[in-house]
Amino acid sequence: VTQPLRTPSRLLCGPGPSNVSPGVLAAMQEPILGHLDPDFRVVMDEVVARLREVYRAPAGIVLPVSGTGHSGMEAGIANLVEPGDKAIVGVAGFFGGRLREMAERYGADVVPVEAEWGKHVPVERLLDALAAHPDARLLAVVHAETSTGMRQPISELGRALAGTDTLFVVDFVTSLGGIEVDVEAWGIDYAYSCSQKCLASPPGLSPVAVSERSLARIGARTRPTGYYLDLDLLAHHWLERGYYHHTTPILSVYALHESLRETLDEGLEARWARHADAGAYLQAELLERGFGLFAEEGYRLPQLTSVSVREGLDAAEVQRRVLVEHGLEIGAGLGPAAGKIWRIGLMGANATREVADRVLAALDAVT
Ligand SMILES: Cc1ncc(COP(=O)(O)O)c(C=O)c1O
Repeated sequence: VTQPLRTPSRLLCGPGPSNVSPGVLAAMQEPILGHLDPDFRVVMDEVVARLREVYRAPAGIVLPVSGTGHSGMEAGIANLVEPGDKAIVGVAGFFGGRLREMAERYGADVVPVEAEWGKHVPVERLLDALAAHPDARLLAVVHAETSTGMRQPISELGRALAGTDTLFVVDFVTSLGGIEVDVEAWGIDYAYSCSQKCLASPPGLSPVAVSERSLARIGARTRPTGYYLDLDLLAHHWLERGYYHHTTPILSVYALHESLRETLDEGLEARWARHADAGAYLQAELLERGFGLFAEEGYRLPQLTSVSVREGLDAAEVQRRVLVEHGLEIGAGLGPAAGKIWRIGLMGANATREVADRVLAALDAVT
């Protein structure tokens, strides 16, 4: 006899996904509607309106791409890059590297501006690259580099790019809903994020914000991009009644609808302050215990803390015991940081001192 699915309960304090609230789980138990049902259209409209607020993007187009964070990244590159276009990409970790590789696969001539893992990419170096390559069609950076716990400064870059023909593309996968994001004030032309981290929904949707400038760029392409991620078609899909592009993942949209409601009810500033407080508390306690922090001081993300593994400890074994003995997930290091750091996420509902204390208690018990 086959058994129904049963999964263990975990406190998700890795780089994502984070735990979802009871309200979000309940939303996914609402009756399934057809994707063209007028009542589902209302849900879609509300999701778009709420996403606009969370992104602070009153202009342009905002919608969730059906797929994880990578789908938003790929939609941006696929629509905004044509073969031979020059693209400046800030690379200070795994996800900057992924962005660079993706742009290269779409035929971009990438000018990488690299920084050591754990450090931010200095704004002056990005601006120097722009001065050396004024024909760059876009400049892309990762706001919250999840592989290192580093926060990339953004706002000055937006101001510098405003008068140019270079589009500003930013990865907000680990920042949206956790730390300040302001698409309008920062002059972002293409923003992408995910549902499963600080917004505390399940994985499966990638909210994006596309500026008027980007829409004009897409309209002027010599050939449209492939079908599924074509932002022009997706805009019709999300904004026009009765238009069919694909079957929207209904339950993921219900979940996002509820998690955006919870985010806005809490208030963006209050939510950012909660993440800031929980992260600062965790980081102070880790330092107190003699752990080092991997990301450079002044640029540390509160929602994702990278902790240097103390001499003599086996990183993978500690991670395994924290999971098995304490039901708590923390993340491992990637690439050059493999075996050297753990990555602890306090995201969404888990951004509290209470959850930080549970992580610390588990680490105390096994180290
Ligand atoms: C900064 C960043 N960008 C992109 C991604 C890719 O998102 P996904 O794994 O949801 O496809 C991640 C995932 O962790 C990320 O942290």
